[in-house]
Amino acid sequence: MAGQPVQVLAVVGSLNPTSVTRTVILHAAERLRSDGCSVDVLDLEKDSLPLYNPDTAYDAPGFDQLQGRVERADVYVLGTPDYHGSISSAMKNFLDHFWREFAGKLFATIVASHEKGLTVTDQLRTVARQCYAWTLPYGVSFADEEDVRDGQVSSEALRKRLEMFVRDVRTYGALLARQRRADLEGAEPCPGAAGELLAAEWNHFSFDQKGYRVMGGQRGLKSAATNHKDTLYIRAPQRRLTGANGENGNRKTGRSG
Ligand SMILES: Cc1cc2nc3c(=O)[nH]c(=O)nc-3n(C[C@H](O)[C@H](O)[C@H](O)COP(=O)(O)O)c2cc1C
Repeated sequence: MAGQPVQVLAVVGSLNPTSVTRTVILHAAERLRSDGCSVDVLDLEKDSLPLYNPDTAYDAPGFDQLQGRVERADVYVLGTPDYHGSISSAMKNFLDHFWREFAGKLFATIVASHEKGLTVTDQLRTVARQCYAWTLPYGVSFADEEDVRDGQVSSEALRKRLEMFVRDVRTYGALLARQRRADLEGAEPCPGAAGELLAAEWNHFSFDQKGYRVMGGQRGLKSAATNHKDTLYIRAPQRRLTGANGENGNRKTGRSG
């Protein structure tokens, strides 16, 4: 693969110490590494994250470091168990801490489920859409005992599915990362989803007295809720604006460097 390696953040969204989601995420991480990707594993059982609170989350110990890991990634490989047809609370909590870091990047999903995990996969796709991220057109799902045994991927079906997944994460992750960089550098007249969103934020945001970053005309909401169309409220007073390579951005032009 030419150019810089695809940066993958692989998230284990189960707090179960003997999680099968972890087994599969680690298998995928190993395969991605052997295919030339740079993989950072965020295991929420070990790197625990307090429950998201918009007033305290961004000042919490360890948040800056976590944000750096999230910003660095081109692709998020998200692994979660199926809990009542939904994503785990650990995964939801992780996702709630971020959004603009996700814009223009790729979500690739793995679900542990006895029911194919379709509703869970759809929820992750919904989050991606809300955050202007792309998704693979399919997800991986697998069942404990059937596909994973004794801490190993045990079925040929899952192994094959993961080979396709790894190939697509590497290939489409690289394509999207390259395009996203071009978008952020303003190389094209229309900057696309990520460039549009970030350039708009660079140009128009300001802070209110409580440190909420405000974009658009209205103030008043204190939540971290986002409305991408008109107004963005993000409690992130000191969060750096960074370009494609992590460098500080120029707020006036929206260009990095
Ligand atoms: C609270 C809870 C709810 C669950 N709900 C479902 C469900 O709706 N459908 C399903 O197939 N499995 C469900 N499961 C089973 C887990 O998805 C399954 O055991 C999974 O393999 C656990 O993954 P882990 O070992 O990575 O934590 C549920 C488990 C728990 C603890």
